Amino acid sequence: MSSSSSQLLRVAEAGRAPLSFVLDGVEVGALSGDTVLTAILMQQRHVRHSEFSGEPRAGFCMIGACQDCWVRCEDGARIRACSTLVKQGMRVVTNGARDE
Ligand code: FES
Repeated sequence: MSSSSSQLLRVAEAGRAPLSFVLDGVEVGALSGDTVLTAILMQQRHVRHSEFSGEPRAGFCMIGACQDCWVRCEDGARIRACSTLVKQGMRVVTNGARDE
C-alpha cells in the first residue's frame, strides 16, 4: 500500500507475500523481502527526525554505512532500517533510536 503521504511508490515486485508489522503503535502492511526502511517509507515520508536539527530524515546511503536510518524495536533493540528485513509482527518505533 502507498499513498500520497508515502515517500516511496512500489512499481515492481508487488506480488511478494504480504505481512504486517507495527509502526509507532499502528499495524501496517509490507511485503516479504522489504527492508524496514522500505516498509516505513511506503507508509510515510520520513524514517526519523534528526537529533541535531529536528528535521525529518528518510535515510541517506541505503547500504548500511551512514547511520541515518536508525530506528528502534519496542524491545529496545536498535536496527539500521536500510539493512534489516522487516518481519511479520515486528514492532518498530521511529523516535529515540539514538537515545543511549
Ligand atoms: S541509510 Fe545509511 S545506514 Fe541506513
